[in-house]
Amino acid sequence: MTASVTVGSRLDELIAEQEQVFLDRQPRSRALLERASRSLAGGVTSSWQISRPQAVWVSHGTGSRVWDADGNEYVDLHGGYGVMAVGHAHPRVVAAVSSRVRKGTHFAQPTEEAIVVAEELARRFGLPLWRFANSGTEATMDAVHLMRAITGRSRIVKVEGCYHGHHDSVQVSVYQPLEELGPPHGPASPVASTGIPAEIVRLTSVVPFNDLEVAERVFAEHRGQIAGMLLEPVMMNAGIIPPQPGYLEGLRELTRRHGALLAFDEVKTGVTAAPGGATERYGVTPDIVCLAKAMGGGLSTAAIGGTAAVMAHITSGHYDQVGTFNGNPLAMAAAGAALTQVLTPPTYRHLDRLQQRMVDGVEQLIALAGLPAHVVAVGAKGCVTFSPTPVRNYREFLAIDDRWSHCHWLYQHNGGVFLPPWGKAEQWLISAQHTTDDVTRFLANFAAFADAVRG
Ligand SMILES: Cc1ncc(COP(=O)(O)O)c(C=O)c1O
Repeated sequence: MTASVTVGSRLDELIAEQEQVFLDRQPRSRALLERASRSLAGGVTSSWQISRPQAVWVSHGTGSRVWDADGNEYVDLHGGYGVMAVGHAHPRVVAAVSSRVRKGTHFAQPTEEAIVVAEELARRFGLPLWRFANSGTEATMDAVHLMRAITGRSRIVKVEGCYHGHHDSVQVSVYQPLEELGPPHGPASPVASTGIPAEIVRLTSVVPFNDLEVAERVFAEHRGQIAGMLLEPVMMNAGIIPPQPGYLEGLRELTRRHGALLAFDEVKTGVTAAPGGATERYGVTPDIVCLAKAMGGGLSTAAIGGTAAVMAHITSGHYDQVGTFNGNPLAMAAAGAALTQVLTPPTYRHLDRLQQRMVDGVEQLIALAGLPAHVVAVGAKGCVTFSPTPVRNYREFLAIDDRWSHCHWLYQHNGGVFLPPWGKAEQWLISAQHTTDDVTRFLANFAAFADAVRG
């Protein structure tokens, strides 16, 4: 028997054992799921809330902690899929939202809170003009529409394995199995969901992350037809895959040379990778930035920012960027408090200190146990990648055995740390309200997991 078969069957055993522990701890979650299944399709409110062995029903959260419906307490590193950078029920956000709620929550007319948020985003991202939306999907949809409206071209380029939300143009080559991907140096454009017309899918070209050569070739093959390229500057739906030096700069130059636009999907990296997201961290300013998740301080909002030239197409009415709930006052109050009162320079220093502790602690435990793994961290986000070598693109990520991350997730969960479900694809988020005690609990669980795997 080879070593990988031995470890594989050990992981299978541990997963079966830990899934039973998980289920035994959550009888009320099970009962709620059964009840919910009669009125909610699949028993959940988004298909991404389904997780193995069962969805976790949450009761409440405060500070760095959340409680499930069975009363179990967790250090929350899930953060609602990377939203809660302010932590739960932060007093500043609670005060801002409470004050707004008493004065009315929706008018579909601009309110002053929106200016505060736009000014702060302009300062952080170095892009002068902003508009709001309600989800990451809407933000990247506006970005794609804008790129097409401005250039009069239809084709867009996206990165293999990148998720940008669930609108048609980007539901292409997202979480596909290897057999659908096509040749590595000329990837196919497999559709990622049912319900997406083939005519639209054909307008999306796919390139591997961190590969300028293929991007060059695709732009040359479709000369004069590409409206723009949309990418996550750090891939964050494949664990965390940072850009290699020169990659973002290369794309900046390539898109300009072809009269195309460059849009960064900073739904995950925005305000977490650095105050001004990956745009600030890597020093490359795109034409359009898309934000959602953490920028809203826990309410559902999103934003697109652009250069003066790009946003002139909105100002002039050439492209109608619209939405009843855009810039909703309640969401803007939460976003304003999050950005100007909570996610301040001292908070970013706090996040960096805690992240360093996480990284150093896990790296030590990995080395001690001799696990085939390493830690990747960018700002407040981090993950354990169960590969001995750095991962540079989706295909390398795909090759990682999912059992490692699921087993780790179960050990953390049963030990009182809530990581995002969906194992190897997701990452932790440290919030303004996390403490060294939270890191200590995470490390203790990691040590237990490493011991168990080693046998
Ligand atoms: C990088 C990225 N872009 C866009 C989206 C879509 O955001 P939403 O779920 O708010 O529509 C997500 C969601 O996870 C995302 O991770």
